[in-house]
Amino acid sequence: MQNEWINNAFKGEVPSGFQGKVGWQCPSNIALVKYWGKRDKQLPQNPSISFTLSECRSETFVEFEKAGKFGFQFFFEGKENPGFGARIERFLLDNQAFFPFINQLNLKVESRNTFPHSSGIASSASSMSAFVMCLLDIEHQFAGIEHQFAGNFSVDPQKASYFSRLASGSAARSVFPKMALWGATPYYKASSDEYAASLANDIHPVFKTYHDSILIVSGETKSVSSRAGHALMEGNPYATARYAQANESIKNLLAALNSGDLDTFINITESEALQLHALMMCSNPSFILMKPNTLRLISEIRHFREETKIPLCFTLDAGPNVHLLYPDSDVEKVESFIKRDLATCCNQSRWIADHVGDGPKKMQ
Ligand code: PMV
Repeated sequence: MQNEWINNAFKGEVPSGFQGKVGWQCPSNIALVKYWGKRDKQLPQNPSISFTLSECRSETFVEFEKAGKFGFQFFFEGKENPGFGARIERFLLDNQAFFPFINQLNLKVESRNTFPHSSGIASSASSMSAFVMCLLDIEHQFAGIEHQFAGNFSVDPQKASYFSRLASGSAARSVFPKMALWGATPYYKASSDEYAASLANDIHPVFKTYHDSILIVSGETKSVSSRAGHALMEGNPYATARYAQANESIKNLLAALNSGDLDTFINITESEALQLHALMMCSNPSFILMKPNTLRLISEIRHFREETKIPLCFTLDAGPNVHLLYPDSDVEKVESFIKRDLATCCNQSRWIADHVGDGPKKMQ
């Protein structure tokens, strides 16, 4: 795959006067089976599965014009922000073998997120995948590389997933509608460590209706980055057991997603969230990203499920915020539960109503 893309990369002269602007929006995603631990060049130690979100997304525009050498400027929410742009610039320079044409282009990138900056929601999955969609779209425009997917893609989603992964691991999963699986597993034929695969055709319809209400416990920047967290898995005494357990979770979750078995879905999803945070507590040095209100919310959610039999459950990202997952059929009851009992545990009573979405969308 990698050699094919290097061999087929456009190595010719960019036509003089070539210029234009492309824009893509890409959603964030929330993992159910967690990716925590990597090896080599952004390859996962275990497979992961996620819901693609809808409301939490990045919107990125790239203006390009033919130039004598590579030029790069990055604007975030209207202001030039070289700090935020550094990661994208590094990604481009590291991957010149795939995109040699960037050395003949001036790029001006403008990006914004639909979710507030202080919501504690990681934006790397959505922002990196939105940028990669723009890059492949530019390549497509002058090199004639085209691919049709789900009607509205003009770039190859597998290629988009591959390069999104190189930019930020979990971003590999953001380019597919509904649900995606990233990482090789014997339980899913189209799986690969190098790119994610769409699960949209292998899931029970109930999962396409899922909501993710994100309960904002804290909007602060995390004390330990996910890059540092992945690295700490190298010395974690439970690493081998964790990777075996994650593979087991993948096998059982794939079966539950297919059959619509909500009890198994809940069981695996909550166990995976708690395992992720248990791994952090067992790292050396150890760290804790949950806050007291994270635990309060978990306890309230479990209590409500027992009382009402509504199949809601929680998951956690690498942070203190709680993602509340439930099918559309229960939206009214769950939203009144959030407003009545959960919002008081949220920072300034903030929560974001998100749901499973359709993946990237071209804006320009
Ligand atoms: O893609 P990264 O390097 O930010 O790592 C993401 C790690 C988790 O969000 C905790 C889990 C996951 O699979 O998304």
